[in-house]
Amino acid sequence: MAQVLGGITTSHIPAVGNAIDKGLQDDPYWKPFFDGYPKVHAWIRQHKPDYVVNIYNDHGLGFFLDRMPTFAIGAAHEYRNEDEGWGLPSLAPFPGAPELSWHIIESMVEDEFDITSCQELAVDHGFVVPMQLFWPGAPNNPDLPRAVPISANTVQHPIPTLKRALDFGKALGKALRSFPEEAKVVILGTGGLSHQLDGQRAGFINKDFDQYCLENIVSNPEELTRISRMELVEKAGAQGTEFLMWMMMRGALGDDVTEITRNYHIPISNTAAGTLLLECAA
Ligand code: DHB
Ligand code: FE
Repeated sequence: MAQVLGGITTSHIPAVGNAIDKGLQDDPYWKPFFDGYPKVHAWIRQHKPDYVVNIYNDHGLGFFLDRMPTFAIGAAHEYRNEDEGWGLPSLAPFPGAPELSWHIIESMVEDEFDITSCQELAVDHGFVVPMQLFWPGAPNNPDLPRAVPISANTVQHPIPTLKRALDFGKALGKALRSFPEEAKVVILGTGGLSHQLDGQRAGFINKDFDQYCLENIVSNPEELTRISRMELVEKAGAQGTEFLMWMMMRGALGDDVTEITRNYHIPISNTAAGTLLLECAA
């Protein structure tokens, strides 16, 4: 059976992709952000996951307001990053793992989660930037695991509750642990922490709330399910709702986790950037 090694979270700000392209990792603006990654790289090198389940929120590339699935799972052989408004990207496709995707979809539907299965899916910066942060050079990194993208709606209300996100993660963890292959899986939760990109509160960041979320997601994620969606928008900002991805990731890890590393830095672009690596008990 497959083993869930752990979960890693990161913000997925598009400007990070640009900073990587330009090699700005040691630039004074970027260094405190990129300093959060070497320990994650070492952990990945040590554990060598075979699969990555990348939980992200599509921002209008794979889905738009006319058709917005609450939970979508990719089941394709490969995933391409397409034009997000900055021109056609020249990236090679990211290899998929359709046999694992279908196993997850079967198991999630059996557990009464209504899933949109996607045999074609364009992936945006929410998926791509974290892959490049964790596997430098991705998709041209020989250690890059095959991927299953999972996108949840944070764009068009009503969005899922924090409890639903955590429960989704629990069912996902069960699905992964019943995959009949000796394989190691790592789960990403991308997005967050507090940020708001538009409207009167553009630039809004809430350090106290972020710290509260960072503390509790490690040892007491159930506590966070008491936060209502309205409160999440109020306290984390309109785009801070991406914290739902962290909750989905966390649910899949089970109760017994060890924090390996954490980084928090304000601001990168308009966002409070958070990185967290949690390892599952063997
Ligand atoms: C930014 C953050 C995001 O989460 C995103 O999807 C796009 C932009 C930002 O801070 O610039
Ligand atoms: Fe985002």
